[in-house]
Amino acid sequence: MSNRHQRLVVEHIRDRFPELPRSTRRCFLRHSAFAAALLAVPGAFAEELATTPQMTEGPFYPDRLPLDTDNDLLILNDAITPAVGQITHVAGRLRSRTGQPVRGAFVEIWQCDNNGSYLHSDSGNRDRYDSNFQGYGRCLTDAAGRYYFRTIKPVPYPGRTPHIHFAVSLHGRRVLTTQLFVEGHPQNATDGLLRRITDPVQRALIIRPFQPLPDSKLDELTVDFDLILGLTPDETQLDRLEGGIARPQSRRG
Ligand SMILES: [Fe+2]
Repeated sequence: MSNRHQRLVVEHIRDRFPELPRSTRRCFLRHSAFAAALLAVPGAFAEELATTPQMTEGPFYPDRLPLDTDNDLLILNDAITPAVGQITHVAGRLRSRTGQPVRGAFVEIWQCDNNGSYLHSDSGNRDRYDSNFQGYGRCLTDAAGRYYFRTIKPVPYPGRTPHIHFAVSLHGRRVLTTQLFVEGHPQNATDGLLRRITDPVQRALIIRPFQPLPDSKLDELTVDFDLILGLTPDETQLDRLEGGIARPQSRRG
């Protein structure tokens, strides 16, 4: 990305998330006493939100993590060549079902590259894997529950409509496993896993518009994807941060 272009993206993201940290390449957790005080106000959010539906982790959580696990999946470490694919900025807020932001949670994503190949030894098309694509990333939510990733627009692979896998760990426990889908993609109608989610409100939470980034010369896209946990504020807030990323479901038991 050129400097000017990077500035445009940052400005656009800041527009929608005015308090987002300056760097889009790193995730920060802000230790703000003010934000913590706001979170503690009882009854601040009366209405219950619909919760993000749980979906399977699937078989392709990376069996070997990449050397770089930051929230920019387009660039591996300090490489110059970016991954192939349509650049997509995914951002959102993690909240409890009563609306309180959930800070200090790890959001993980993984997805196939532009050829439909995962960072997994059992993935199809493995020999054509785009060596510039990180394939997996993680981001710690800030005091307002926000996360951000730069990645590529997901593509279909045999048997599945395009999607990005999401997992959320809070205090070392996996509290949400789900998938993000591209609104309007024709294969959504025939995807076996997506068809199991029948509630229209829950579908609207995970099938999101991928919208053009204004003035982008690279045809970049942006997606707002809020994640709503089926937990109460008591279950999401701790006085201190503890625990890390939960083991993937495929490696438990
Ligand atoms: Fe998948």
